[in-house]
Amino acid sequence: MRPVTDNLDFNERTASAIVSGRLRPGNDRLGVAVSGIVSHIHALVSELRPTRKEFREIVAFLTDVGHATEDHRQEWVLLFDVLGVSTLVETMNSARPAGATPNTLRGPFYRADAPTLSLGASISLDARGEPLTVHGRVTDLDGKPVAGAILEVWQPNADGIFENQQPDLQPEFNLRGKFVCDQDGGFIFRTIKPGGYSIPSDGPVGMLLQRLDYPLNRPAHLHFRIGAQGYQTLVTQIFDADDPFLTQDAILGVQRDLVGEFRKSGAGEWELAYSFVMAPARIQEQAS
Ligand code: BEZ
Repeated sequence: MRPVTDNLDFNERTASAIVSGRLRPGNDRLGVAVSGIVSHIHALVSELRPTRKEFREIVAFLTDVGHATEDHRQEWVLLFDVLGVSTLVETMNSARPAGATPNTLRGPFYRADAPTLSLGASISLDARGEPLTVHGRVTDLDGKPVAGAILEVWQPNADGIFENQQPDLQPEFNLRGKFVCDQDGGFIFRTIKPGGYSIPSDGPVGMLLQRLDYPLNRPAHLHFRIGAQGYQTLVTQIFDADDPFLTQDAILGVQRDLVGEFRKSGAGEWELAYSFVMAPARIQEQAS
């Protein structure tokens, strides 16, 4: 049957069929996605029955999100992050076997060009904050060491600010570095205890969240990216178990397996012991 594309009978009941009928048919995922989005929006509009003024406000909000987006600020990504969409898509695309460390979003603060440092070195270039030693092992699912795994780490300072957010105040590459794990998959580096932070609250997304009393905080964490031949690259975050916002992460990134215990050592310094479990590369990754 030919799809209905004729608008003469456009009404609440026929709206979705008419718009979907106008989209290019076939297996094109874009057409399927646009058709799905349209029918969900039509259903929502039918349910909520917005006034003209409310509709203008929605359009104004989306316009503001667009205007707030620039090279160094991605307000659209922030919107998807806080609505849980980014983490949901990441979860679907990074399912790992039981026992493997879960993957999370990489986030906007990663730099691929951080320097390679010797095991035991400090990534804190300004020595501001409470000293922390991080150590552990990288293993496979059977607990065997992944010797030579490349571990990249990046984190915010004690005020919750990453080096690339504050290029004039923090030394370049502060609180980031690359390490090569030893024969036992072991790694150790020195740093400072990261601070938690709030996602940007001065843009349209932050303002909307504040109006709705939605959490804006990200609990304190360190980011890791771990790569090794024959394994799926692991991009993850390890969170401070004692952070008051642990269960209220603005971007819904915390999982139970990613919570680490920051303990005070005998010398009064902080210590975090955490080991990562890598999953074997998928067949197509091994081939490429
Ligand atoms: C972060 O603040 O580290 C972050 C933000 C959005 C997505 C992932 C991470």
